[in-house]
Amino acid sequence: MYLKHIFFILYFIFTITKSEYVSYRKYKVYKVIPETEKNVQILVDLQKNNHFTFWSDTIEIGSNVRIMITPEEQKEFEDYMNNVGMNFSIAINDVQDAIDAQLYRPPNRDTSEYAWDYYQTLEEIYDWVDKIAEQHTDVVTLVTMGYSVEGRPIKGVKIDHKKRANSTIGMIEGGIHAREWISPATTTWIIKEFLTSTNPDVRFIAENIVWHIFPVTNPDGYVYTFTNNRMWRKNRNTANFTSCAQWNLNDDMSNGIDLNRNFGFLWMTTGASSNPCSEIFAGPTPFSEPEALSIATYVNKIQEEGNLVFYYAFHSFSQLVLVPFSHVGGADVLAAPNYGDLYEIAIKGMEKLKLRHGTDYIVGTSADILYEVSGSSFDWVKGDAHVPIVYLFELRDDGNYGFLLPAPLIVPNNEEIIDGLIEMDRVARAIGYYRSSGYYFKINVVVLILSLIVIL
Ligand SMILES: *[C@@H]1O[C@H](CO)[C@@H](O)[C@H](O)[C@H]1NC(C)=O
Ligand SMILES: [Zn+2]
Repeated sequence: MYLKHIFFILYFIFTITKSEYVSYRKYKVYKVIPETEKNVQILVDLQKNNHFTFWSDTIEIGSNVRIMITPEEQKEFEDYMNNVGMNFSIAINDVQDAIDAQLYRPPNRDTSEYAWDYYQTLEEIYDWVDKIAEQHTDVVTLVTMGYSVEGRPIKGVKIDHKKRANSTIGMIEGGIHAREWISPATTTWIIKEFLTSTNPDVRFIAENIVWHIFPVTNPDGYVYTFTNNRMWRKNRNTANFTSCAQWNLNDDMSNGIDLNRNFGFLWMTTGASSNPCSEIFAGPTPFSEPEALSIATYVNKIQEEGNLVFYYAFHSFSQLVLVPFSHVGGADVLAAPNYGDLYEIAIKGMEKLKLRHGTDYIVGTSADILYEVSGSSFDWVKGDAHVPIVYLFELRDDGNYGFLLPAPLIVPNNEEIIDGLIEMDRVARAIGYYRSSGYYFKINVVVLILSLIVIL
């Protein structure tokens, strides 16, 4: 009797603390291109009932819609597509194979050297961050901006080459969505480049801006994508755990909040959900989540240390540069006071980016080129913190592998992004951003003297 109780308690603790590894064995990703309004409607209806997992959020005529389907439902889906007369093809034959391929590690790699030909775990990223901070003590300060729900540090670096007062500051946010693995792999590459590149263009932006870079702002979610579910997006807050059966979803879906809907700018007004089972659950209140609150607090803190000129958030996938604000489209994009500049800077940056490997990026507001969103970090940084140059990047690819971007594509992705950042900096500088107040003052005095000379 006594033993049985202990066994039961142990069993209970085990089942609530250790959820299963979710396998995507024999799941397929189908590619469907709607050709008529009717086709579009058919897919939109399928998406609404949550029956299949849509990897693409844009469903319009001509768009590449990717749908992930369990082995049990593949026949039903194929029959349905045949019935309604829509063509489909298979983009990924076995999703678990693509996941396993992403976990591949070169067998003879030098484990003391960090590399970008495979994806790193949180532990590996943090060990590397510690190490480079030690190797560059003159330039790098290790920063912990806060702690996650499960108590993990949100670690990053401050890179300050010149140690000037009243400096120009930039901040980079990576990994706020757990499954978007290319994001931490890009932000760590940027750190490496800013510390070690010998390219004069890279050195210029590395040295003339004080950088605050955080590769994994959702550490609990990132760890969960390695240990339990590769397709996890949100943080791991279990406070709103509930049954998700009525939406055909596993209850574990309710164990998390979409951090990129939890920020306090126009929170829960559009493109966000109050349903804990949703991928875009915005949380009970704005900034309810420690990860989101840490980012906002940190932004406000560094604004007091100098001139915070820009903020980049890295996501995947779709190859887009999103300009704030995400709730407005059409003529309303001008809601962002310097929208015209932001658009021009991004367009020129992406022209330069394309020269490297031919990759196309599209620039616009989320409402125009993706979908309406509210409560995202970058909109808050623009709308509430009033940082002038703010973007959200959706990195590679355009849907073939989606979140499961093969590791050999990490480096090409990173190389082109660096080219884009250099050009964006150049254009922004030419337009007149990136000046410290001291610089503005000098310019104004010169202009004043010149005008006086002309008038006299
Ligand atoms: C989520 O959990 C919080 C904290 O327990 C609670 O205040 C809130 O009402 C819950 N919200 C939903 C939508 O379940
Ligand atoms: Zn994302």
